[in-house]
Amino acid sequence: MHSTLGFLLKRLVGKKNKGLPEGRKPEPTTASIQHLAIIMDGNGRWAKKRGLPRTAGHTEGLKRAREITEAVAELGIPYLTLFAFSTENWNRPAEEVGFLMDLFKRVLYDDVMDLQKNNVRLKFIGFRRNLQPELLKLMEEAEEFTAGNTTLQLNIALNYGSRGELVAAARSIAELAQKGKLAPEDLTEATFAEHLLTAGIPDPDLLIRPSGELRISNFLLWQCAYTEFYFTPVLWPDFDRAELFKALHDYTRRDRRFGRVKGGPA
Ligand code: IPE
Ligand code: IPE
Ligand code: MG
Repeated sequence: MHSTLGFLLKRLVGKKNKGLPEGRKPEPTTASIQHLAIIMDGNGRWAKKRGLPRTAGHTEGLKRAREITEAVAELGIPYLTLFAFSTENWNRPAEEVGFLMDLFKRVLYDDVMDLQKNNVRLKFIGFRRNLQPELLKLMEEAEEFTAGNTTLQLNIALNYGSRGELVAAARSIAELAQKGKLAPEDLTEATFAEHLLTAGIPDPDLLIRPSGELRISNFLLWQCAYTEFYFTPVLWPDFDRAELFKALHDYTRRDRRFGRVKGGPA
């Protein structure tokens, strides 16, 4: 095993919630990471720099998505979320949108057996509306096929937008209240989170955004309340294992206080 990988493995998952008395919540530490989220950005610029069409950047970006997924699985991080297509990305030229949809379909035809072999569970977070029926069917089949896998849960945010997600959650909660199934005073943060597209998935510990943009572009707004952010100018098609290790290493030096005083009582 790569020595940096071995080092990270120890730092990131080695001390995971060990030896805690029954029922006590684990202390948040910089040494454990349960969920990594990535905004895969910079494909177009990568291609432009090489005089290639933007679509070539998406094809190259897919290679990094595979490489990073494999690395994250090896590290033993249980959840990885990749932002692949936002609700705002429909506003791109039809040709680029069409290319991306075809790419998603191709990945589902080509990669699901590998995911299955590697014990990776695939889940799509995003709106099912507006997607081509063929793509939707492939997505649902892949989710069902890999549902029993346990090494890594790979969440692909496809047709995802966090404001839309929050409004949808508010709407379904309002409907429950209207039907008398939920009293407004019983609504808690935990209940609210159950209505999000990420229900059942822990909040990201670390969000990586390559490409130099310093924004989250409507990604996981609720879920990132206490997430650590890592921004890098590296473009996604150049974001390889070494870049991932750099980001994770940076994370291990963060002091996550969750509003408390450093070193204070839990
Ligand atoms: C991210 O790369 C891929 C998607 C949003 C689908 P971009 O296509 O946004 O690349 P840039 O930001 O234009 O370089
Ligand atoms: C965010 O990237 C969406 C994905 C990576 C899928 P964008 O390239 O769409 O974000 P903006 O437009 O720069 O904010
Ligand atoms: Mg972009």
